[in-house]
Amino acid sequence: MSGIDERIENIRKGIMKRAAAMKAKVKKQGFKFQPFSVKQKKVLTWWCPASPVKDSDGIIADGAIRSGKTISMSLSYVLWAMNTYNGQDFGMAGKTIGSFRRNVLRWLLVMLKSRGYKTNYNRSDNILTVTKGDVFNNFYIFGGKDEASQDLVQGLTAAGFFFDEVALMPESFVNQATGRCSVTGSKYWFNCNPESPQHWFKSKWIDKSRCHLSEEEIAEMEQEGKEQKNLIYLHFTMDDNLSLAEDIKKRYRSMYVGVFFKRYIEGLWCVAEGLVYSMFDDTVGGKHVKAEHMTGVREWVVSIDYGTVNPFAAGLWAFDGKHAQKEYEYYYDSRETGVRRDDETHYQEVCKLIGDRKVTFIIVDPSAASFIECIKKHGTFIAKGALNDVLDGIRVQTTFLNKGIISYYKDCKATISEYGLYSWDMESVEDAVVKEFDHCMDSDRYLCYTYLRKILRWKY
Ligand SMILES: Nc1ncnc2c1ncn2[C@@H]1O[C@H](COP(=O)(O)OP(=O)(O)OP(=O)(O)O)[C@@H](O)[C@H]1O
Ligand SMILES: [Mg+2]
Repeated sequence: MSGIDERIENIRKGIMKRAAAMKAKVKKQGFKFQPFSVKQKKVLTWWCPASPVKDSDGIIADGAIRSGKTISMSLSYVLWAMNTYNGQDFGMAGKTIGSFRRNVLRWLLVMLKSRGYKTNYNRSDNILTVTKGDVFNNFYIFGGKDEASQDLVQGLTAAGFFFDEVALMPESFVNQATGRCSVTGSKYWFNCNPESPQHWFKSKWIDKSRCHLSEEEIAEMEQEGKEQKNLIYLHFTMDDNLSLAEDIKKRYRSMYVGVFFKRYIEGLWCVAEGLVYSMFDDTVGGKHVKAEHMTGVREWVVSIDYGTVNPFAAGLWAFDGKHAQKEYEYYYDSRETGVRRDDETHYQEVCKLIGDRKVTFIIVDPSAASFIECIKKHGTFIAKGALNDVLDGIRVQTTFLNKGIISYYKDCKATISEYGLYSWDMESVEDAVVKEFDHCMDSDRYLCYTYLRKILRWKY
């Protein structure tokens, strides 16, 4: 097992231990409800007989992270199902089944138990059966992004469907799943954090909800036979979660900047535009560009974005246990020199970059199979394929820049200049970056998302 794998394994063991301790604590204490906020109460009661909006076809809650959407909606969904139906099937989905278990099921089971419901979760079939007295209902769990779920949902006839983090699911899955709700009185339940305003969920569900339309617009749409949705819409901010202490809210606010702040903290559907890392400070001696090399280095890591026709960008990073600094870079653009370099030549250049330092491993663009092979063939360094989740990686790199966790030695000129050019693609409907001046940026993202995020995970 390599050094990093061992550390990851230790972290994993730590998580398991803490999770077991937490489970024992939760079991002993039950779920400690804090008072529900006004908005959470709306989510919990909109379907009740006395509610003026009880005949709506469903509910959408969007907004900030940690604002109490999932907890109130998942509980309300099961309470509605148990109070309205007996012996029916329902759907519940997260981005993946794994994320659903972590983010929804864990707390839902505890909340139901504390309200006197009996639950039986069949992990292999992903069915949750909830019972109280003579009433029982089955809740089929799906992962919107899991391929198997897309086939399985076809066989369901449901009285309702709950989607946690719906904006992270493919539209095709949501259409299939909502299409399975054919039982009379069935309702849709959605929650999510905002994305781009052009996102399919915003344009096809939120914007078509009657609550967003004036009476004239509704009349006009009816005349033209245009589709409207009879859904309730609620917008959440962190202040709608009364269980969050002020210092925790402050910590979340300090983690995000730019488009991520607007989406995750302000809860707004906004466009990612301009420079991706607009917070980057290129002043030497400032927040991100340093005139001195790092002292107290604990570990050296290399990250690489591979290219033959496109530029090849490698960075040597020093890590002191809390911060990482890119100390040296190797950037080669064959279009500028007119000479292409083969893998072996690039490898020798990376070796020069490393010198006699002890490098833990080299993180490489996962598509660069030939270069990974080249590193392995030499047998001197451990090569690791990078996690290439572009948007999540950018979000993490943004947080690290914002917190001053990554910095650059002043001579990393190619990288510093890319920070001033790397932009969101305004032509794209979905969030995307312009695929230009992105080579150092990609290699830095690999470092942040594949390595730093894991090493520093306890802080986030
Ligand atoms: N009334 C409450 N009583 C106790 N804990 C609560 C209450 N409301 C929210 N919480 C806690 O606050 C945290 C955030 O809640 P929740 O997961 O529902 O937020 P969210 O809006 O779905 O967040 P995200 O957008 O990040 O998924 C959870 O740990 C949850 O247990
Ligand atoms: Mg949630």
